[in-house]
Parts: sequence; C-alpha cells; structure tokens
Amino acid sequence: MSVADSGFTSVRSADLSPDDTYKLLIGCVQPRPVAWITTVGRTGVVNAAPFSSYNYIGSQPPTLAINIVQRGDGGLKDTARNILDTREFTVNVVNEAQLEVMHKTGEDFPPEMSEPETFGIALLPGVAVAVPRIAESPVQMECHLTHMLTIGNGHNVLYLGEVVAFHLSNAVYANGKIDSERLRPVARLGGPFYTGLGKIWHFPPSAKGR
Ligand SMILES: Cc1cc2nc3c(=O)[nH]c(=O)nc-3n(C[C@H](O)[C@H](O)[C@H](O)COP(=O)(O)O)c2cc1C
Repeated sequence: MSVADSGFTSVRSADLSPDDTYKLLIGCVQPRPVAWITTVGRTGVVNAAPFSSYNYIGSQPPTLAINIVQRGDGGLKDTARNILDTREFTVNVVNEAQLEVMHKTGEDFPPEMSEPETFGIALLPGVAVAVPRIAESPVQMECHLTHMLTIGNGHNVLYLGEVVAFHLSNAVYANGKIDSERLRPVARLGGPFYTGLGKIWHFPPSAKGR
C-alpha cells in the first residue's frame, strides 16, 4: 500500500488478503440493491435470503445476476442449492418496511428451517414458477436459471436468471412505471449498514440517450 502525494491511497489487489479484498470491494461498490431471494428446497421448504451482489444485466430477455459465495466449509448456501435443484428463483425487492426482517433472514440457518415460516413472512403463490413470492414486497420477479458462471477460484458463482414474470404492487406501479418515492427501496452499504432514498435528481431525457 502506498500513500502518495496525490492524496490517494493506492493498493494492488495482489497485496490484499481475500477478506480485505472483500471489505474493500463492498466499500467501493455502494449502495447496492438487495435481492431478497425466495427458493424452494427438494423437500418443499421455502427459503428466503438477501443478496446485494446483484443487479439487472440485460433486458432482451430481462435478466438478473446474483453472486452467491461458497459457505465457509466450501459447501453451497441454501439459495444456491435450491436454484441448482429447481432452476427457479424469485427476486423480491426490499423496501423500508421489510428492512429489519430481511436483515434477519441473512443469518445462517439450516436448510430444513424456513425463514418465511420462522419470521412470519407472508407468501403468495408463484405464477410462472413454483417458488412463492414475498407478499409484502412491492415488486417480485420470477426467474428461470439460464446461466451459471464460476468466477476465479470458485468462491463466487454468478447465477443468471431470466425474469419470466413481474409482479408489481398497485401501490408503486402505474402506467408502465415504478414510482421510486413510493417504492422506498433500501440498499446495502459497506459493512452492516443500509441506506434508503436520498435526494433524487432529474434530467429530462435527451434524444441521444437515456
Ligand atoms: C443485505 C445482505 C446482503 C447479502 N449479500 C450477499 C451476497 O451478495 N452474496 C452472498 O453469497 N451472501 C450475501 N449475504 C449473506 C447471505 O444472505 C447469507 O449467507 C444467508 O445465510 C444465505 O442464506 P441461505 O443459506 O438460506 O441461502 C448477504 C446478507 C445480507 C444481510
């Protein structure tokens, strides 16, 4: 690490431990949206867990990507195992009202324990997939797994899902648009911190781009 006169601290990735790399990355890439993912296990247990290494990556077809890391013992998290078994998952958007319970579902629970059941999270049946969605979530996106991409040494695996159905609450959706102020989405910062909507800037669309 060098602290140069430029006023920047410059760090070569090769000099960082895996843990420090992770901490630095989640500080550099923030705020991150949170995918609260529901899946169903082989025995029918409904699982819910949050993932903020997540974004949309394509629109034709609509495609989401989620990076799920290995467990400490090298095994799969329940979400990853269920996606591999069923090739289906649902991404539920988290707003301020769900923040606290969503955070609780980020703890490590055994596969036979259903987070929705444990924390009293109401579910609605899936429409295009067999996976239930989180009723209080204002936006739910049902996905089919399309690709899996192992990154580097296999610690991170990217799961790509095509959105086959969108469910949009009337409270946030009208005329083909989601109202951000009504949605009140939450996002993850570095460390165990979250943020909500701050100031919203508006630039009128130009003919040249978005
Ligand atoms: C806000 C938040 C974001 C998270 N993002 C990720 C992530 O992007 N990738 C990941 O592997 N784990 C992430 N986690 C940790 C998982 O949610 C956690 O390992 C959880 O126990 C996995 O549950 P499962 O075994 O039921 O799938 C995050 C946790 C929280 C609270």
